[in-house]
Amino acid sequence: MLSLSAMPRTLDPELRRALAARIRYYNEMGIYDFYRRPQSDRVGEIAATTVVDETEIAVSTSHPESEEEISSRKATAVAMPVAIQSDENIFDLIALKPEQSVSDPVKALKIIREDLGDCTRCVLHKQGRKQIVFGVGNPTAELMFVGEGPGADEDAQGEPFVGRAGQLLNNMIKAMGITREQVYIANIVKCRPPGNRTPEREECATCSPFLMRQIAVIKPKVIVALGAVAAKTLLAMSASMAQLRGRFYDFRPASVRSNDPNWDGCKLAVTYHPAFLLRDPRQKGEAWKDLQMVMKELGMKAPKSNS
Ligand code: URA
Repeated sequence: MLSLSAMPRTLDPELRRALAARIRYYNEMGIYDFYRRPQSDRVGEIAATTVVDETEIAVSTSHPESEEEISSRKATAVAMPVAIQSDENIFDLIALKPEQSVSDPVKALKIIREDLGDCTRCVLHKQGRKQIVFGVGNPTAELMFVGEGPGADEDAQGEPFVGRAGQLLNNMIKAMGITREQVYIANIVKCRPPGNRTPEREECATCSPFLMRQIAVIKPKVIVALGAVAAKTLLAMSASMAQLRGRFYDFRPASVRSNDPNWDGCKLAVTYHPAFLLRDPRQKGEAWKDLQMVMKELGMKAPKSNS
């Protein structure tokens, strides 16, 4: 983890003004997302730690549906806003997104979808995707589920979790005493990786800022990360499912702020991906424990048949 003390607390005022002007210039052109350059390209640490939109993440290249338990790796750097005593706060400018001035969440999500456009930001756009799978559900949901990426069924229908894994997710949601329509469902990447391979680290890093913006609009109370890729991307850390499950994390979407000053992030829980549960149904009891933890947090009671 990059400690705050390792980051520059003050920037040269000249440099700060120049950076602020450049970011505003990009914002005016409709560019809101800034990505960290590879280490070798970096000119200086100040620029590298300042102009950064996303956290660095470590995402496995193995498929979680075949290997849900992934060994620990070191936690990676998380860029955090530094309080700069200036009305030209660069981090405020970076966080400025076009939907932030819109109070209606339906309209705000529409703005994010329009901003995404016919996305060609990563290689997935030219690897056989039929359509972008944005996300579905209640735009003011208290509970949000985040999976890995669309499969063939989702790619064909344009909606997340509509295949076999989706049927199981629907049953899990039903067991909690709620409906699919009451929650919001999305994925880390919005385009189907070819052959249902695990999305690459670069693809997750490129796509997840849009998910972060969706989260900041929806303002859920709890997010359930389904599987290791979702957990590791959202938490910007790498650990085994055994280490990640069984507790809540305090979550704030990276590099974006909600326009609601009362929403300061939410809880995040990790559970097994439904596709993994289809392969190993013995773990369903463990997943149910995770969901019960979530239900308790949300003050929900399971319907009679589950208690
Ligand atoms: N698996 C996912 O991670 N997401 C989907 O939408 C479908 C299957």
